[in-house]
Amino acid sequence: MKFTNAVVTGAAGGIGRALAARLRSEGTHVVLADIDADALTATAGELGGEAVPADVSDAASMAALAAAAPDTDLVCLNAGIVGRDLGVPWEVSAEDWARVFAVNAGGVSNGLRAFVPGMLASGRPGHILITASLAGLVTFPAGGAYAASKHAVVALAEQAALSLAGTPIGVTMLCPALVRTGMSPEGEDPADIADAALTAIRAGRFAVVPDGWGGEIERRGRWLASGEQPSLPNVPG
Ligand SMILES: NC(=O)c1ccc[n+]([C@@H]2O[C@H](COP(=O)([O-])OP(=O)(O)OC[C@H]3O[C@@H](n4cnc5c(N)ncnc54)[C@H](O)[C@@H]3O)[C@@H](O)[C@H]2O)c1
Repeated sequence: MKFTNAVVTGAAGGIGRALAARLRSEGTHVVLADIDADALTATAGELGGEAVPADVSDAASMAALAAAAPDTDLVCLNAGIVGRDLGVPWEVSAEDWARVFAVNAGGVSNGLRAFVPGMLASGRPGHILITASLAGLVTFPAGGAYAASKHAVVALAEQAALSLAGTPIGVTMLCPALVRTGMSPEGEDPADIADAALTAIRAGRFAVVPDGWGGEIERRGRWLASGEQPSLPNVPG
């Protein structure tokens, strides 16, 4: 499936930029959206895309983005922040809890509200890519508001996939481990993550999970089902 008109949030850098670059290389018209207007203008100029500054945590801003991007057939709800504190829950400030949830979970829910009704009304095939994280599939003791917000993003992606089953709109959820971006100095190349996401979309797959983590995700499911106490994830060697 070749996409005609794509929107990517958090597109000024990192994974969003890599998604936009990959789509541009396929000839897709891409609307790049980001809260960092200067970086956005520079990236859109380099990639030959259209820059629309937007704050994903603001429902009106996302509605304006959708209005500026008619006939969208691929929406990548990718923008996210780590927050200031990656500690245990009671050590994270109330402000951090609110902002991280507003951007990470609110960015996805605002995106779904802004784009899905129009995509359904068009009757045309389309797809929604949601960037969650491995941090939303397994749980460590700390991880601050980020980890909990990404569990919320996983639930939102599942809700969207279940609700849109049987419609022409597909849903894929990207759950990377570490990726070398503004968020992390180490990890995988964002271009490889973008490739994996587009390959999964075209294969009709729901989740993109890093190699080696499937067993830990299953183990979490088993203790949730059995009532046992949780235990630390084993990081695959
Ligand atoms: N880098 C990693 O290790 C990693 C791992 C798993 C998941 N992720 C997820 O990937 C996504 C992309 O992150 P990245 O790694 O490319 O980080 P990044 O910091 O390089 O890029 C994130 C982009 O989102 C933008 N942004 C932040 N708040 C915004 C807002 N309110 N509205 C619009 N744009 C906003 C930033 O300006 C930035 O350009 C995030 O959802 C992140 O949680 C990243």
